[in-house]
Amino acid sequence: MPVTIVIGSQWGDEGKGKIVDLLGDQADIVARYQGGANAGHTICWGDQTFVLHLVPSGIFHEGVTCVIGNGVVIDPAAVLEEIRMIRELGYEVEGRLLISHNAHLIMPYHKQVEAARERARDAGAIGTTGRGIGPAYVDKFARTGIRVVDLLDRETLRKKLKRSIEEKNVILRNIYGEAGLDVEAIIEEYVAFDQLIDPYVTDTTQYLCRALREGKRVLAEGAQGALLDVDFGTYPFVTSSHPTAGGCCTGLGVPPTAVERSIGIVKAYCTRVGNGPFPTELLDEDGERLRRLGHEFGATTGRPRRCGWLDLVALRYTTMVNGFTDYAITKLDVLTGFETIKVCTRYRYDGKETTRFPSEVQTLEKVEPIYETLPGWSEDLTGVRRFEDLPAAARDYLRFITERTGVAVRMISTGPRRDQTIVRP
Ligand code: IMP
Repeated sequence: MPVTIVIGSQWGDEGKGKIVDLLGDQADIVARYQGGANAGHTICWGDQTFVLHLVPSGIFHEGVTCVIGNGVVIDPAAVLEEIRMIRELGYEVEGRLLISHNAHLIMPYHKQVEAARERARDAGAIGTTGRGIGPAYVDKFARTGIRVVDLLDRETLRKKLKRSIEEKNVILRNIYGEAGLDVEAIIEEYVAFDQLIDPYVTDTTQYLCRALREGKRVLAEGAQGALLDVDFGTYPFVTSSHPTAGGCCTGLGVPPTAVERSIGIVKAYCTRVGNGPFPTELLDEDGERLRRLGHEFGATTGRPRRCGWLDLVALRYTTMVNGFTDYAITKLDVLTGFETIKVCTRYRYDGKETTRFPSEVQTLEKVEPIYETLPGWSEDLTGVRRFEDLPAAARDYLRFITERTGVAVRMISTGPRRDQTIVRP
């Protein structure tokens, strides 16, 4: 039985939230498999806009169960606040949101260590979202992390927290010259989460595998983007998890043989928040215009996003790594009004042309994008509902993407609302 994975094909912020929300109609379960509250998935319906950071975007569909898998790092305060807001909007959450007992927790000291480390890196800072993601994954892989299941056992939680905070205090005081944390205050705050979170906690892997055997349809929602993957992205300017397809299996505990479809979400141009190489970045009026028309400001941090032309060298690379079966192209409407549109099809490195994406930063920083120029269009796309009704130049742009990547475009987003979408058979 099928699992469909939705993955950002670039550096995140491709508009996954809207596509997951749309596909939620066809799913029984929507599951998040990695990352944490660093993500911000914006959903618009009617005149309402909602940004989800941890709870999967399927929560607004009656009859859909949402899962936060073992691969996610959870800030319990953030998830409880999100649950409160969703309930306030009139949606039932209990019984519809399942949190993996094996997921690791983000603690206040993770955020503090991250902030201190970023300050110490100075010019070499990664530009993280400040949500404590990296240090939480460090503890997970150092086997000193605290998991959701620990919240349900006060004594174990007390012991683990004490050990962990004391260790972080040594690091904060001695390496970064910062004030330490109050061990008892944190323990008191976190032991109180047990009853609040208990109704949502379960063995989500057993749940998902049983559901798959029963023929249920699972939509796996990746956060961030493939180029921020800790192994396949532009390391060290990456996040600390696996947004790529493999992360779905390890982050949920579903077998690879269950995956039927891998949808690459491709923004019609590129953006990046935080530091790190970005070959097609535009530092001119065109970049400003993309930022302004595309409202390219972080959903989590409000930071302005860096903007540039579509990079097919990078897209072919992430298509290879994720085995994208089809693309959803988002924000096509933002390109309206550009007389011409550039697309990067190759790089020049060391005097030679190449189609290889060098994920190693030392090389990527030095490549020069080689562009092909396509005609633009001036028609407003936001009311278009059929592929045939798009202006010829917009159709040609989409065909160009398919020709150069070998992947069909099945969905096209022409505006932020649910109904501003073209779905092709
Ligand atoms: P972290 O995930 O907060 O550790 O940040 C690492 C890098 O990933 C930084 O460049 C962030 O800006 C970027 N990042 C993290 N989450 C997102 C996201 O949801 N969208 C876009 N970039 C993100």
